[in-house]
Amino acid sequence: MAAGKRGSAKNNKSRKGDKPTGMRQGLATYGDAGFSLFLRKAFLKAGGYTDDALDRPIVGITNTFSDYNPCHGNVPDLIEAVKRGVMLAGAMPMVFPTISIHESFSHPTSMFLRNLMSMDTEEMVRAQPMDSVVLIGGCDKTLPAQLMAAASVDRPAVVLPVGPMLVGHFKGEVLGACTDCRRLWGQYRAGTFSEADIDKVSERLAPTKGTCMVMGTASTMGCIVETLGMGLPNSGSIPATHSDRLRVAEATGKLAAEMAVKQGPKPSEIMTEAAFRNALTVLQAIGGSTNALVHLTAVARRLGIRIELEEFDEIGRQVPVLVDLKPSGDHYMEHFHWAGGNSRLMKEIRGHLDEKCLTVSGKSLKQVIDAAEIVPNQTVIRTPKNPIKETGGMAVLRGNLAPRGAVIKHSAATPALLTHTGRAVVFDSLEDLAARGDDPDLDVNADDVLVLRNAGPKGAPGMPEAGSFPIPMKLARAGVKDMIRISDARMSGTAFGTIVLHIAPESAVGGPLALVRTGDRIALDVPNRKIELLVPARELAARKKAWTAPPPHPGSDRGYTGLFHRTVLQADEGVDFDFLGPAKG
Ligand code: FES
Repeated sequence: MAAGKRGSAKNNKSRKGDKPTGMRQGLATYGDAGFSLFLRKAFLKAGGYTDDALDRPIVGITNTFSDYNPCHGNVPDLIEAVKRGVMLAGAMPMVFPTISIHESFSHPTSMFLRNLMSMDTEEMVRAQPMDSVVLIGGCDKTLPAQLMAAASVDRPAVVLPVGPMLVGHFKGEVLGACTDCRRLWGQYRAGTFSEADIDKVSERLAPTKGTCMVMGTASTMGCIVETLGMGLPNSGSIPATHSDRLRVAEATGKLAAEMAVKQGPKPSEIMTEAAFRNALTVLQAIGGSTNALVHLTAVARRLGIRIELEEFDEIGRQVPVLVDLKPSGDHYMEHFHWAGGNSRLMKEIRGHLDEKCLTVSGKSLKQVIDAAEIVPNQTVIRTPKNPIKETGGMAVLRGNLAPRGAVIKHSAATPALLTHTGRAVVFDSLEDLAARGDDPDLDVNADDVLVLRNAGPKGAPGMPEAGSFPIPMKLARAGVKDMIRISDARMSGTAFGTIVLHIAPESAVGGPLALVRTGDRIALDVPNRKIELLVPARELAARKKAWTAPPPHPGSDRGYTGLFHRTVLQADEGVDFDFLGPAKG
């Protein structure tokens, strides 16, 4: 790590013709560069900084701490550790705030704000003087937003996940957010779990700082950050509250200082087409969150790389699920970490990975995999000969109901429902679902197919995690635990069930989902990757002719909501804004 030498890090005196670095870059425009730099330093000197400090390479550090984001409760400690690492390496840390998003505090849904966070992060990294940046994130949409920003700015960047929570306990049972949140809430709804018990569980589901500790979106994205090469080995799985997390934060700070001096590698050199294919492979092998497919599509699009759904499906046919974590398996992130984490997992599937890919540390993926910790007798990371599931966690479906694709996490589904034809019971919107879903007079049976529409990117808006909507109350009370549910929504990575998601194009733009009527027959055939609405084409054409778009959402005539409605893309394009593709010049 060359940046460790104090002298070598003092490279902030730009020579004529060199690209300005450190405090000299990105000056505010006053028409006099010297004055701009003088003023910038004068303001910083109010904080007691010396010229020596201000002449160092600068490492920006995002502060995503917020009282509204309990998952990021350890961010202040991580920032201190990153700063220590930066200064040990002779560079200058500069902490700056960005938007922070927590799942439970984002109306209408966190996905609505992901692109805003990516734009905020991109523009603040671009606007402020920094030679590299440490992106500290974790709660579901934050790491995707930061990766999208890093891809767009293309300045040297290292991602530091906040890490998962430790597990909770209740009456001898291990609890994990949020697979067990949904399971126990379902039992409470069904009347088999008491009010007192659900109150106690609410105190124990999220017992520490950190992100959800099952293989939900946050944990999935932690593994993906590592696989892409954008974070240090196993930085995705070290528990949020362990001292190892502070050590990896310090190491991240040192690495970022070295990258500031070397002015590389840049995200575009790390996040290559091969790196994305590696990430898709790991996504299948960990039984990861369906959301990660949308996020990876969006990050790749920022770099001009197209994620093909068929390629993802094909990877899933070759790569088994090897990680025994909820919701596909039994364990939690801390167990995955102590079993060797993502590096160890990659060792089991290395034949499917491009090991030449570069990581931020300067090491190849091969070197990272070779250094994986071998833990004797661990059972959390299986071998391909003894997998959790023979094939990957997710499948891509096509058919007249999803011409641009749909996704199912079949590793978390009921096997008997994966080939099933049933009668459609349609809910026209989330409001309709809320109004009628629990009506005791609702005409619904356990072998029906529940359809929710107008819950996609434009329809909801923001494509909420509503796809794993509850089984109607009367069936839940009769003991029905799973039914086929299909929608243009997403679902939480922590959810389970036979749930078809991300139907594209969505119903709000006139996709075929808009044409389904209660009583139609729908055929799901996951082994053959089909989802079909069994209605004659002529009848569908007549329905399409009579279809009218839902009225615009309140607020969509202005501001961010208006921007979102005008420019958001469909699920197969990552739900990014159409104007945030790769830079043209
Ligand atoms: Fe933050 Fe689950 S709510 S990671």
